[in-house]
Amino acid sequence: MSDSRLLGRVALITGASRGIGEAVARLFAAEGADLILPARQPEALVGLQNELAEFGRAVLIPKYDLTDRRCFPQMAQQIDKRFGRLDILVANAGVLGPLSKLSEIDDESWDHAFDINLSANYRLLKNLDSLLRTSKAARIVFATTGATRSPGRPELGPYTISKYALEAMAKTYAAETADTQIRINLINPGPTRTKMRATICPQEDPLTVKTPAEVGGFFLDLCLTECPYSGEILDVVMDEGGVDKGTGVTAPSFRMAVRNPS
Ligand SMILES: NC(=O)c1ccc[n+]([C@@H]2O[C@H](COP(=O)([O-])OP(=O)(O)OC[C@H]3O[C@@H](n4cnc5c(N)ncnc54)[C@H](OP(=O)(O)O)[C@@H]3O)[C@@H](O)[C@H]2O)c1
Repeated sequence: MSDSRLLGRVALITGASRGIGEAVARLFAAEGADLILPARQPEALVGLQNELAEFGRAVLIPKYDLTDRRCFPQMAQQIDKRFGRLDILVANAGVLGPLSKLSEIDDESWDHAFDINLSANYRLLKNLDSLLRTSKAARIVFATTGATRSPGRPELGPYTISKYALEAMAKTYAAETADTQIRINLINPGPTRTKMRATICPQEDPLTVKTPAEVGGFFLDLCLTECPYSGEILDVVMDEGGVDKGTGVTAPSFRMAVRNPS
């Protein structure tokens, strides 16, 4: 059931082929948004595209690899031609990068992690800036991580360092657009049942972590016109378990908390 809270809004979501991005795309389609879901292998998203088209809004799945810097001006041109503006950017695509000591990482793997986690997001901002400024209430959300709360975890360097730089970039853009209608924030979804989580925690029972659908609503909150935040990092945190009245089972609940409020 949806309230059409994004009716008529144009949203670009990266990394929608699976995991958190896919869940956000499903929710945003149900809420009435027109979607642009760039993907390296759009053919793999045809099923999703058909499902989301049922909601009656546009669902475009252009072929773009975020490591290819030529794709960003093309993407902007395509959105401009079709919609003339961009209301929402969910920059969710990310990679873990090499899980090795800094001294043992090869240059290509280091560059790849920064290409996806940082540079692609910079190029999205740079190339989509004028389309975002054309919106009446542009909302931008970047996916970050809890690892940046206490950087220094061994063998997670490229991931943590690139996300740390992403946070600095988003806060800089927030300051530079403070006099506009643009709101830009970062969200740390916390442990979520995806391919990335399974890679970094192979011993973990996936059923013990929340699903992508359970975090989608927090991305939505940050994309609503009434979103009160800008330039913040929001952590999705778990509350004490409550007891489900129907089943009697203790179930965790989640909420967003501003990290290091100023
Ligand atoms: N899951 C967690 O527990 C967790 C916790 C904290 C933060 N996060 C953050 O949340 C975001 C989503 O994570 P996830 O767990 O959903 O990850 P995931 O399941 O690994 O999905 C990553 C997405 O990024 C896309 N992507 C990777 N390289 C790309 C490229 N070169 N061009 C275009 N798309 C590319 C993938 O598309 P392909 O199908 O083409 O590979 C996929 O759609 C990430 O930024 C991650 O850092 C996740």
